[in-house]
Amino acid sequence: MKIVPFIPENAPFSVEQRAWLNGFLAGVLNRGAAVSGAASAETKRPLLIAFGSQSGNAESLAKRLAREASGRGFAARAAGLDSLQPADLIKEQNVLLITSTWGEGDMPDNAVSFWDSLNQNGSSPKLDGVQYSILALGDKNYGDTFCLAGKKLDTRLAELGAKRIVDRVDCDVEFDDLAKKWSANAFTVLSGVDAPASSIATEAEEEAGYSKKKPFPAKLIANVPLNSRGSSKDTRHIGFSLTGSDLTYEVGDALGVFVQNCPKVVDAVIAAHAFDPQVVVALPDGGSAPLREALIKHYEVRNLYGKGPEANLALAAFMENLRKLQPRLYSIASSIKKHENEVHLCVAAVRYSSDGVPHKGVASTFLADRLPLDATTGIYFHAANHFRLPADLTRPVIMVGPGTGIAPFRAFLEEREATQASGNNWLFFGDQKRASDFLYHDQIIEWVQKGHLTRLDTAFSRDQEEKIYVQTRMLQAASELWQWLEEGAHFYVCGDAKRMAKDVDDALHSIIQTAGGKTAEEASAYVNQMKKEKRYARDVY
Ligand SMILES: Cc1cc2nc3c(=O)[nH]c(=O)nc-3n(C[C@H](O)[C@H](O)[C@H](O)COP(=O)(O)OP(=O)(O)OC[C@H]3O[C@@H](n4cnc5c(N)ncnc54)[C@H](O)[C@@H]3O)c2cc1C
Ligand SMILES: NC(=O)c1ccc[n+]([C@@H]2O[C@H](COP(=O)([O-])OP(=O)(O)OC[C@H]3O[C@@H](n4cnc5c(N)ncnc54)[C@H](OP(=O)(O)O)[C@@H]3O)[C@@H](O)[C@H]2O)c1
Ligand SMILES: Cc1cc2nc3c(=O)[nH]c(=O)nc-3n(C[C@H](O)[C@H](O)[C@H](O)COP(=O)(O)O)c2cc1C
Repeated sequence: MKIVPFIPENAPFSVEQRAWLNGFLAGVLNRGAAVSGAASAETKRPLLIAFGSQSGNAESLAKRLAREASGRGFAARAAGLDSLQPADLIKEQNVLLITSTWGEGDMPDNAVSFWDSLNQNGSSPKLDGVQYSILALGDKNYGDTFCLAGKKLDTRLAELGAKRIVDRVDCDVEFDDLAKKWSANAFTVLSGVDAPASSIATEAEEEAGYSKKKPFPAKLIANVPLNSRGSSKDTRHIGFSLTGSDLTYEVGDALGVFVQNCPKVVDAVIAAHAFDPQVVVALPDGGSAPLREALIKHYEVRNLYGKGPEANLALAAFMENLRKLQPRLYSIASSIKKHENEVHLCVAAVRYSSDGVPHKGVASTFLADRLPLDATTGIYFHAANHFRLPADLTRPVIMVGPGTGIAPFRAFLEEREATQASGNNWLFFGDQKRASDFLYHDQIIEWVQKGHLTRLDTAFSRDQEEKIYVQTRMLQAASELWQWLEEGAHFYVCGDAKRMAKDVDDALHSIIQTAGGKTAEEASAYVNQMKKEKRYARDVY
């Protein structure tokens, strides 16, 4: 029989001391029953590692941390915030929460309904007895909204009575080292003994093969303009060879691409500061290189270009302010079942003027203009477990993907063709002009003709006076769309996050109200239920 020790709440101990004593006594009292060398399942301290994640970083970190915690004797599990209610935290008691921030300071999609439940007037539960700490993932480029989702969750959990056992840590894009320190502190407090330095394996350490830390040098095998004459856009079909890598991917995943700055931009920055391009400087991950090479390959310089230069700035001060050049993610536009040993992307070259100075996006123009065919650049796969086709091949799918948002849906449609999925497929595509901007026109029309694409609705915004957008077409087809949803269709959105994805979400709510005869609250509940069932997924940027 297992003896359960109980230190009463009014005993003169803090929450964490009481939790530790209960755990310790359980271990001593039940030693005979314990498996040699390890805590028995009953005496292991429960630990929930909850994650709010859009593109998979927080999710992957939470899962790796759960494995690490299990190795340290915790009964640890990782769970998405979409599978949790605030009341679950009370049951679990020990909670480490990792969340990213999306949009403009927003919760990631899988954290929205949890966040709403925490803020329901009158019905949000008291969280006394819950011990928690938060690791917030973000990007300092977002300025005032840096790690805002993590900050908001931290404040709200404390307001509801939960006890913060370790201060929140806010991480910029490089988060592995801070995550290790934060988790070691949390383990120390939760276990009541000094935990050795945390050694959560980074993704690279866990993966034997190629990864973000060890990218595969992939050969560029395609760079095809997808817009024709008269277009104001420059969108490219980009292909990389995976030959020699053993790498594979699933549709829905993204590809990370290592890129370089434009040498002309770097030369202009160096000249503006009157630096010697050959002077040797330190690199962000150790080692050194001449300044020009370091700025082309290793540091972000786009923010410096065309700005009023501080000509007398010392090199050391200049280097101190530089951020490491980051790889960029692109939604994968191919199915490996159709294109063996290849991965395809659909990339919009970013070019704009600001204060009369022409600017170009680092990665998109590297791919469009500067990486020659047959040359290589580092790539890695970034899993997107939230953005998957239904396992049930008979399920209908609705895909809304204007502009480069078409990328994952080309991949989905290729995959559904290869797997002979019998479920119906409905695509909403839009761009500026039908004549010049109908990306992947021939392949899409062939799918319509073959009946693989059950329904195609296009929205060309600049072919007429008034703007017609994908959501215009959705609203026009409200009753059919509602019918598909009721038949269990999965609803996917990809593309611009700032405007399009928000407007499409509004249109979806509106359709559920008008065609489904629901109130605004019922429509929100319907959409939340779709998210829970993983029938509403977004890949927006
Ligand atoms: C999960 C995910 C999937 C993605 N999938 C795709 C995809 O399939 N296809 C695709 O093309 N992109 C995709 N992106 C976006 C992609 O990662 C890059 O952000 C994009 O290519 C721009 O990168 P860049 O290096 O060329 O531009 P950067 O050098 O990073 O410059 C972009 C920055 O320039 C500024 N800027 C841009 N336009 C203007 C303007 N008009 N006026 C003023 N400032 C402006 C903004 O600050 C913007 O953040 C995806 C992003 C994510 C996170
Ligand atoms: N900085 C921004 O605010 C912003 C906005 C969009 C895209 N982008 C970036 O620009 C790059 C290229 O984008 P893209 O090729 O994918 O296409 P895109 O610029 O998103 O445009 C695709 C189509 O969507 C239309 N659109 C514009 N606003 C919309 C809205 N609120 N709802 C629905 N549709 C809308 C566009 O119409 P019109 O152009 O005629 O309005 C166009 O027909 C991407 O890197 C993307 O992230 C930036
Ligand atoms: C479209 C987009 C919007 C973002 N918005 C923010 C933001 O407002 N604040 C912030 O700190 N980070 C922002 N980020 C950065 C993410 O939080 C960061 O990349 C994080 O590591 C993503 O983790 P995830 O993959 O678990 O979602 C944004 C990233 C993207 C692509």
